Amino acid sequence: MSSLAATGLCMGYTSGKLRTEILRGLSLSVDAGQLTLIAGPSGCGKSTLLSILSGLQRPDAGSVVALGEDLFRGDRYARDRFRLQHTGFVFQGFNLFPALTALEQVMLPLGYMGVDDVAAQARGRATLEEVGLADRMHLLPAELSGGEKQRVAIARALVKRPELLFADEPTSSLDAANGQIVIDTLRRIAHEHATTVLCVSHDPRLVTHADRVLEMEDGVILGDHRITNNGAMAEEENTP
Ligand SMILES: Nc1ncnc2c1ncn2[C@@H]1O[C@H](COP(=O)(O)OP(=O)(O)OP(=O)(O)O)[C@@H](O)[C@H]1O
Ligand SMILES: [Mg+2]
Repeated sequence: MSSLAATGLCMGYTSGKLRTEILRGLSLSVDAGQLTLIAGPSGCGKSTLLSILSGLQRPDAGSVVALGEDLFRGDRYARDRFRLQHTGFVFQGFNLFPALTALEQVMLPLGYMGVDDVAAQARGRATLEEVGLADRMHLLPAELSGGEKQRVAIARALVKRPELLFADEPTSSLDAANGQIVIDTLRRIAHEHATTVLCVSHDPRLVTHADRVLEMEDGVILGDHRITNNGAMAEEENTP
C-alpha cells in the first residue's frame, strides 16, 4: 500500500487577469522505505506540489491521502496536527535560527510536541549523531559549513521520527560532494526507518542516488523510473 497518494491535483494562480494552471490533474503514489525524487524544470510546480502533499497548502481540486488519512477533508487545525505528528520538512535555505546551536535547533520540534527537556536532549544528540554531526552539536549556524547546516536541518526534520519526510531542493546550495552526502543521508533514512522520503530537485547528479524518479512536466507526472543498485534507470512505468 502506498503511504502517500495524490489524485487529480489541480492548482493555479491568478495574477491580474492572467490565470496560470500549474498542476493539471496530477496523480502520484509513493511508497514507504524509499527515496523518491521529483524532477522537473524550474517553475513547473515542484514546490507547489510538495506544499500540497505535505498539507501546507490546499489544492483547487483533487485529494491527498497520507498514511490512510484524507488530508484536505478535515479543517486546517487537523492538518496542522497531522503535519506536527507525522511529517518533517527540509527547506532549500536551511531555515536555521542564527542564535541556536545545532543541538538546540534539533530539540526545538520536540519542545513543540511536549517532550521534556532531558528526553529531547537525548533524542537530539542521537539524531545529530545519525547524520554525522556528533562533534558539531554545540556550534552555531555561522560556524557550520553549508553541508553541515543542511544536515542539521535534516536532523531537525527527522528528530520526531516522522513517517513522511519532505525535502525541497535540499542540495541546491551545496557543492557536488556535500550534495551527495545529503542525498545519501536521505536515502539511508528512508531505508533504515521505513520512512517515505519525497525530495524535489532539478539536479541531474542526484538521479542515480534515488530509488525512484518521477518526472514532472506540464502539470502532470510524465515519467516514472525505478533506479537499480548501480544507478541505472531500470524500467519505465505508467503512473496512475
Ligand atoms: N503564491 C503564488 N502566487 C502566484 N504564483 C505562484 C505562487 N507560488 C508559485 N507560483 C507560480 O507557480 C509556478 C510554479 O512555482 P513552483 O515554485 O511550484 O515551481 P518549482 O518547480 O518549484 O520551480 P523551481 O525549480 O524554480 O523551484 C511559478 O510560475 C510560480 O511563479
Ligand atoms: Mg521550487
